[in-house]
Amino acid sequence: MITLLQMPNDEVKNQQSEVAVSSLIETSQNQGISFLDFDTLLNMLDASYDSFSNCNASLGEVLTDTIEKKMEVEVDVQTIYEDILSEGSDKIPKLNREMHSRYIHEMLNRPLPAPFSKLDASKTWIAFWLMNSAALIDNLNTKEQNNAAKQLMYFYKTSSGSKNTVAGFGGGLHQLPHLAASYAAVLALLLSKNENAWREIDTQKVKKWLLQCKNKDGSFSMHVGGESDTRAAYCALCIAQLLNILDDDLRKGVADWLIKCQTYEGGFAGAPGDEAHGGYTFCALSALFILLNPDELMVSGLNLEILIKWTVDRQYSLEGGFSGRTNKLVDGCYSHWVGGTVALLELLINYNKYKINDPNKYLSLIDRQRLQNYILCCCQDTFGLRDKPGMNSDFYHTNYVLCGLSMCQHFQIYDPSKAQKYGNAFSAYPIEIEQPNTITILDDNHVLGIDAIFGVPYGYALNMYTFFSNL
Ligand code: FPP
Ligand code: ZN
Repeated sequence: MITLLQMPNDEVKNQQSEVAVSSLIETSQNQGISFLDFDTLLNMLDASYDSFSNCNASLGEVLTDTIEKKMEVEVDVQTIYEDILSEGSDKIPKLNREMHSRYIHEMLNRPLPAPFSKLDASKTWIAFWLMNSAALIDNLNTKEQNNAAKQLMYFYKTSSGSKNTVAGFGGGLHQLPHLAASYAAVLALLLSKNENAWREIDTQKVKKWLLQCKNKDGSFSMHVGGESDTRAAYCALCIAQLLNILDDDLRKGVADWLIKCQTYEGGFAGAPGDEAHGGYTFCALSALFILLNPDELMVSGLNLEILIKWTVDRQYSLEGGFSGRTNKLVDGCYSHWVGGTVALLELLINYNKYKINDPNKYLSLIDRQRLQNYILCCCQDTFGLRDKPGMNSDFYHTNYVLCGLSMCQHFQIYDPSKAQKYGNAFSAYPIEIEQPNTITILDDNHVLGIDAIFGVPYGYALNMYTFFSNL
């Protein structure tokens, strides 16, 4: 509360901001600066452009904890941007590959520190986040790939379902097969490119287990008897697609159930009737993309207009990053969950609605430069990437912030011939954006283009699928 009461009211704050911003604009003009990242940063501080979205409450009004925290984040972010601007255009932070790389590889190559014992059921996730982060900045190595493959196969062989007719991956040794743990394991194995490990997966047993997780209404449960939500549907479909076991029994009723998860706000909830959220929305839309082609999606019952509106509303003008749901705080990981949704929506409207097939004329639904600025200025810890200023980096955010950075730098293009040959899940490919008014991509900041559905550098997923379809 103290912070709040000390905040200037809108009018005063806008005036202060205007003075600060106009002096910075003057400085930048005097220096002849015309970089998009720098200019965009200036606009981000322009109070007339929907900044301070939650400061409309009058002084003395009781505010929720969330709104107070949101205002504090806005002040932190504004201070960071002002400091950077006052130092000049060449002081916009670059992606600190060297330090992030040290963090990723150190953690991949040593036993996890003791406090990580809490994450004993998330070991397949840790492997995936770290390997994918390394792959995105293009320095995952063979030793790491082979070690990870060996570890992951222990989790498969010792999972509590393995001796029966069903099988999946637990999150660690001797654990219950779980869809999220299995999804992360299959993606990490895909990144390992280790075909000897792949050959040990009994895909028919995996299919039986996936069918056990499936419910009559078309939803999937996270594990047999567990909770059902759009994450479970997405994880199950990804696993089935990559292992080439996706058949009509697994597909039946899933798209209709997913459509029921779209809410009145436009985004998708975890389950029908719940609140729209970026994480669940990415899962639902990606799962729909696996099941349906863009033409089918347009007549599936999906309300595209409100989904687009809700998704673009997740981007905050001051911070530049996304929130996961209405009125909540910006967070770097939504650069992927919401950013990935944006990439799929752009594919849909560019290909289906406007029939644009020239990537240079693609419409961008969000302000990519603002998002990239948030990532580079606010989400870089000394080692690894993070949620927001004041937070420490972690493996999860390192991966999903890098995925978001990749989304900023690429468009997803729909290729009907790939859809025909390999299926809907493999119909999109990334191309680097070459529109200078959309984003500035310095070599230092460049990350690989990702697969829109699986969130891994492009090419790995098709490689695994091709292996299993040739068995
Ligand atoms: C809210 O957290 C988070 C959720 C409701 C779930 C998010 C779902 C995902 C990130 C998708 C996971 C995907 C797979 C494949 C398993 P919060 O209330 O702490 O955060 P918020 O305030 O930002 O909403
Ligand atoms: Zn987060």
